[in-house]
Amino acid sequence: MADQAIFGIIGNPLAHSLSPVMHNAAYREMGFNGHYVTFEPGNLRDIIDMIRERNIRGVSVTLPFKEAVLDLMDDLDSNALRIGSVNTVTNRNGRLLGSNTDWLGLIQDIRDRFEIMGKTVAVLGAGGAARAAVYAIHLEGGSPVVVNRTAARGENLATEFGCAFLPLSEIGVVDASGLINTTPVGMMPHEDESPVPARALRRFGWVVDIVYNPPFTRLLKEAREKGCKTVDGIGMFVNQGAEQIRLWTGKEAPRGLMRRVVEEELRRRSEVKDQDV
Ligand code: ATR
Repeated sequence: MADQAIFGIIGNPLAHSLSPVMHNAAYREMGFNGHYVTFEPGNLRDIIDMIRERNIRGVSVTLPFKEAVLDLMDDLDSNALRIGSVNTVTNRNGRLLGSNTDWLGLIQDIRDRFEIMGKTVAVLGAGGAARAAVYAIHLEGGSPVVVNRTAARGENLATEFGCAFLPLSEIGVVDASGLINTTPVGMMPHEDESPVPARALRRFGWVVDIVYNPPFTRLLKEAREKGCKTVDGIGMFVNQGAEQIRLWTGKEAPRGLMRRVVEEELRRRSEVKDQDV
């Protein structure tokens, strides 16, 4: 397998990551001789050196390294620079390019469903995922409002992107067309939690949760009950991965298949979990 292209993911922990199964299924379907592995680094710089030395063609970057990896890149694309986080590294003959496909993955999934241009969209959270969402809404011609539990962090993000801020405790008065949750609240194993009281959801026409495990979070269930349209996080996850594959191979990835593989794997894992109980 001398010509096989090696890709991977840097993060910690990675035991639950769906990226390897999704990427490997995509390469198989594309007939592309590639293999995607996990790198759980002790030392991030050592892994980055190894990527250069072993000619690893590309890596995904996930928690908690998306910001730290930015300073270790040779080049950055304008999206990564503006968002301040790198989820994709591309090895171009030993020079590492850092880019960000999270914002694109999100906007590709929602732009055909909801009108963003000229609309106000509440973005819940103030971490890296929130930055990608705020950036995406801006680029699409919408007005993001940052809503966050910790005021200082939310205000900083809002100031940086020139948008409004409201503390989470005041979400009941937000006047916005849609809501995007970028916090991890509601993610396994805390499926019984929601970041927003149900009574505050009626104001939104639509609610997007970037959490994809479980796909149907408590937030989305309650949003449906209040009459909101809902979108889970699987589409964004698939799209950000498909955009990575496009950067690394120059080819369009099989998004439908990738989605089916992710859904199947989530189902399989939840069944295994139920059997454990
Ligand atoms: P990421 O880079 O993935 O976005 P992060 O930087 O850890 O992750 O940011 C997580 C976001 O989720 C933060 O905005 C955090 O709010 P604080 O700034 O107040 O910490 C938010 N968050 C996490 N747990 C939360 C909870 N239980 N309720 C409300 N917000 C929460």
